[in-house]
Amino acid sequence: MASDDSTGGRMDGKVALITGGASGIGRACGLRFAAEGASIVVADLNPDRAANVVDEINELGRPAVAVAVDTSSQEQNDAMADAAVDAFGRIDACVAAAGISHAGYVSREIDDQAGNDRFDRGDMFFIEKSLESWQRVIDVNLTGVMLTNQAVARKMAEGGGGAIVNISSIAGTNVLKGSADYCVSKAGVWMLTRCAALELSRYGIRVNAVGPGYIQTSMSGAVLGNERWVAARERETPMGRLGVPDDIANACLYLCSDEASFVTGEIIFPDGGVMAAGR
Ligand SMILES: NC(=O)c1ccc[n+]([C@@H]2O[C@H](COP(=O)([O-])OP(=O)(O)OC[C@H]3O[C@@H](n4cnc5c(N)ncnc54)[C@H](O)[C@@H]3O)[C@@H](O)[C@H]2O)c1
Repeated sequence: MASDDSTGGRMDGKVALITGGASGIGRACGLRFAAEGASIVVADLNPDRAANVVDEINELGRPAVAVAVDTSSQEQNDAMADAAVDAFGRIDACVAAAGISHAGYVSREIDDQAGNDRFDRGDMFFIEKSLESWQRVIDVNLTGVMLTNQAVARKMAEGGGGAIVNISSIAGTNVLKGSADYCVSKAGVWMLTRCAALELSRYGIRVNAVGPGYIQTSMSGAVLGNERWVAARERETPMGRLGVPDDIANACLYLCSDEASFVTGEIIFPDGGVMAAGR
């Protein structure tokens, strides 16, 4: 389809729903997809920041709506998918980017306001990890992604197909000390992606994953000010830099576009070479 003058055209006429769309990687996906012609559903726990992203997308001349959702709730995922179809008539693409780095994390702003320190958590390490902390990370990062996939897949099946991208992480393969819950959740997202791809192909739905490396977002904000941490991550990354949200949004855009029409059950690691280096 030819693009209109205001867009790049790779997502012309498509409706994309982005969970975690109010910040970081999710926000970048919303803006990037909109610039390519999509209408965007910005779904997030934080409705005020989601509304700000809607304004940014509208400034690009594209339609968008904000939907408040806690993706760990089945009921709220279903209501989110209903709201998307009410707004735009269908869902063609979904990026499941809502996620937390640990149980107490919601966003860096909130951590800062509360004085929470990423490296001063009582139950950070495995032997001290509370069931409650473990469960919250699994609920949001793994069960939440599964529930989002189910809710949007039902709408996509009704509409004749679609493309889903789940945000995993290099931490789904590489061990991060002090983050067993997070690593397990992200490994689970990758396996979930393959299972869903196999089962949903009959409905014309492709399901892929993206595993970001070290990306500068609110989530990593706690450690970005730590020069030693940043230098160590840059050394660990063959390309010698941290990633930016657009590095991830571009991979998601490819997987959601028709250019990836024969790609399903795959994972792409935009990580500057961390996985290739096999650390
Ligand atoms: N930043 C990185 O280095 C990095 C690396 C690998 C993977 N990831 C993954 O990328 C995804 C996006 O993270 P980010 O770095 O953009 O972080 P971010 O904190 O900037 O954005 C996450 C968004 O998810 C939302 N959210 C959190 N819990 C939610 C819930 N229960 N329901 C709905 N929305 C919820 C937050 O409000 C926030 O807007 C996450 O899944 C994260 O695990 C990030």
